[in-house]
Parts: sequence; C-alpha cells; structure tokens
Amino acid sequence: MTLSEQVFAPPRRDDDLPVLATARLVLRAPRRGDGKAIAALANDRRIAANTARIPHPYAIEDAEQFIAAVNKREGEACFVIALDGAVIGVCSVELREDGPEIGYWLGVAYWGRGFVTEAVRALVDHAFSDLEHETLISGARVSNPASRRVLEKCGFQWTGVRLSRIRAISSAAPIDRFRLDRGLWASLKSWGRVIRVT
Ligand SMILES: CC(C)(COP(=O)(O)OP(=O)(O)OC[C@H]1O[C@@H](n2cnc3c(N)ncnc32)[C@H](O)[C@@H]1OP(=O)(O)O)[C@@H](O)C(=O)NCCC(=O)NCCS
Repeated sequence: MTLSEQVFAPPRRDDDLPVLATARLVLRAPRRGDGKAIAALANDRRIAANTARIPHPYAIEDAEQFIAAVNKREGEACFVIALDGAVIGVCSVELREDGPEIGYWLGVAYWGRGFVTEAVRALVDHAFSDLEHETLISGARVSNPASRRVLEKCGFQWTGVRLSRIRAISSAAPIDRFRLDRGLWASLKSWGRVIRVT
C-alpha cells in the first residue's frame, strides 16, 4: 500500500460492527489473528467452487488480504462465525452491482448441523434492522442444493438463473438468484405462534 493509499484508505469499521450471538454461535468482525484458522477452513475446493471469489488453493496470505479488505464501506458487514470460540466460517453482506448481497461459507467439518441457517438469519436481521437495507440478494450454484435450502429457510425467494464467474474454476457457471424484501422479512418475523383453544 502506498502512502497516499494509506492516507485515503477508508478506516475499518470493525468497531461499529456489533457482536451477534445466536443460540449456538457468535458472529464477530474478523481480526488479524484469524488468518490461519480462516485459511485452514477455506482451503478446500468444495468451498471455493461454490463461491464467486474464493481462490483455490487458499493460503494464509489470501486470508490476511481478505481480513484487511473487509468492513470498510458503509452498509457492508463481514463476520466470522465462531463456535465455542473457534472460527468455523464466514458470512457477509456486501454492496454489489445489483444491491446488498449475502454470502457465506462454512468449514466442511461443520456442514449439516444448521449452523449457516442460524448465522444467516442473524445476518439478515442485522442487514434490515441496523444497516437499514430494503432488499437483500443472494445466489447459489444450481448444483448446490444445500445453499439453496439455506436461503429458502431464511425467507429468500428464487428470482431466476444467470451465469456468473466462479474464480476457483476459472469459468462461469449457472447461479440460482434469490431475493428477500424487508416487507417479507418483517412479515416472517411477526408471524407468531397460534394457540389452539379448542
Ligand atoms: C452451503 C453451506 C453454506 C451449508 O451450510 P450448513 O451449515 O451445512 O447448512 P444448514 O445445515 O444450515 O442447512 C443446509 C440445508 O440443506 C440441506 N441439504 C444439504 N445437502 C443437501 C442436498 N444434497 N440436497 C438437498 N438439500 C440438502 C440440509 O438438509 C439442510 O436443510 P434442512 O435443515 O431443511 O434439513 C455449506 O455447505 C458450505 O459452506 N458450502 C460451500 C460454500 C457455499 O456453498 N457457500 C454458499 C455460496 S452462495
């Protein structure tokens, strides 16, 4: 980084980022010391091939660059997902061309236990309540039913398919696109239990 880049680089917003606690997880801003843990988890083709921008192989330097780059822009939030104090994955809302986009990945050893659904619900609440977004978008490769299911369980609705570039495969792949509006989210959040009286 040059001196002028240092002077004009936007300050990190980590201090503005809340720490979110769910039933089993803690979501917090990534810290410099997280590089080794993030790289150990993310260095897996099953993760890279299902995300747009994660390279494969994925080294500690990649994790350090990632940590240095996130949480700089208003309206964005990037969290590590921690379980019993250990980093197990990452989730974020980032401002993209089409709007605020939710992304996530989890270390393979932790798949299939509902962790990402739990984390993304907390992230979605943060994005609507604190970041005040009106609409969130996301996407999943058509060959990734688990990710599609996560989005559906968080209230997202399918809007179509489009080709998007996947860095790890150096190619484009069809992506199911999803959207969640504030109105639908508010409706789902307010849908209380019905008590059967007879
Ligand atoms: C996709 C991913 C985030 C899921 O994380 P997870 O913590 O295992 O997800 P959850 O356990 O919260 O939910 C997964 C859901 O998908 C379902 N599922 C898993 N594999 C499936 C399959 N092959 N077909 C259909 N549904 C499947 C699970 O049963 C579960 O649904 P349920 O609770 O209704 O039973 C994780 O596998 C991952 O990190 N993958 C690589 C990176 C990635 O795909 N990121 C998303 C990019 S958009």
